Amino acid sequence: MSDNSAITVNNLIKSVATQEGRLTILNGINLDVKLGESVAILGPSGSGKSTLLGLLAALDSPTSGEIYLDGSPLHGLDEEAKAALRKQKISFIFQSFMLVDTLNALENVMLPAELSGIEQAREKAEAMLERVGLSHRLTHFPNQLSGGEQQRVAIARAFICEPKVLFADEPTGNLDGANSDKVANMLFELNRESDTTLVLVTHDLHLAQRCERQFIMEAGRLSESTLVEQPATQENNSVSVEAS
Ligand SMILES: Nc1ncnc2c1ncn2[C@@H]1O[C@H](COP(=O)(O)OP(=O)(O)O)[C@@H](O)[C@H]1O
Ligand SMILES: [Mg+2]
Repeated sequence: MSDNSAITVNNLIKSVATQEGRLTILNGINLDVKLGESVAILGPSGSGKSTLLGLLAALDSPTSGEIYLDGSPLHGLDEEAKAALRKQKISFIFQSFMLVDTLNALENVMLPAELSGIEQAREKAEAMLERVGLSHRLTHFPNQLSGGEQQRVAIARAFICEPKVLFADEPTGNLDGANSDKVANMLFELNRESDTTLVLVTHDLHLAQRCERQFIMEAGRLSESTLVEQPATQENNSVSVEAS
C-alpha cells in the first residue's frame, strides 16, 4: 500500500449462503486507487459491482481479504467503528437518489452536516445547492423534483462533508441523456475542486471514459481495461471496451 492510496484492496472475497449452497459473488479482487483519482467500474448486470462498492464503503463485510480506506483497515472493524469511518470519510450516490422523502431539498443536504456536527450547516447546504443550480428549489420535497434535480440534491448532499471517497452506483442510470450530462458534469467538477476520490459504477461508456482509469467486473473478478476508440465508420462510431 503506497502513502497516497485512497483505497487498497487485497484478495477480497465475498460469498453468501443461498438455498443452492455457497455463492461466491466476489472472487479475489485486487485494487489500488490513488487519492483524488477517478475510476469507473463497468461490467454486466449481476457481476458483483454493487457488492464491491458496498464493501469498499463499509456498508457490508467481506468473507475474507483486506480493504484499506485512506490508510485505515476496514476489515475487522465493528459496526460502530465502520459507521464512524463512513461519517468521516465516505459518501454514496445511488441510482435511485435515496433522498429522505419527508425532508425538503435544503434539509436533505443539511442532514449529514448536522449529523457530523459541522457548523453553519444551513449556509453550507445553501451554497452546495446553489453550486448544483438548485437555489430556486430549496423548499421542494423529493416528490416535487424531477429525477435530474433529485440527483443534483444527492450530489450536493454527498459533497457537503467533503468526503475522501465518493462512491456512485450508476448515478445516471435513471436519467435521460441531457440530465445525465448535467449530473455527470457536476460530479466531475466537484470531484476536481474538492480533490475527492471518485469510484463510479456505470453502464455508460462515455461517462466511464471521463474517469482517469477504467475497470471491468466479470463474474466477480476485476481487471483494468483500456477504453479503445474505434475508427469512426458509418456502421460504427462508438467506443468499445477491451479487458487487458
Ligand atoms: N445477499 C445476497 N444473497 C444472495 N445473492 C446475492 C446477494 N447480494 C448479491 N447477490 C448476487 O450476487 C450477484 C452480484 O450482485 P451485484 O453486486 O448487485 O451485481 P451488479 O451490481 O454488478 O449488478 C448477483 O447475482 C446477485 O443476485
Ligand atoms: Mg448493481
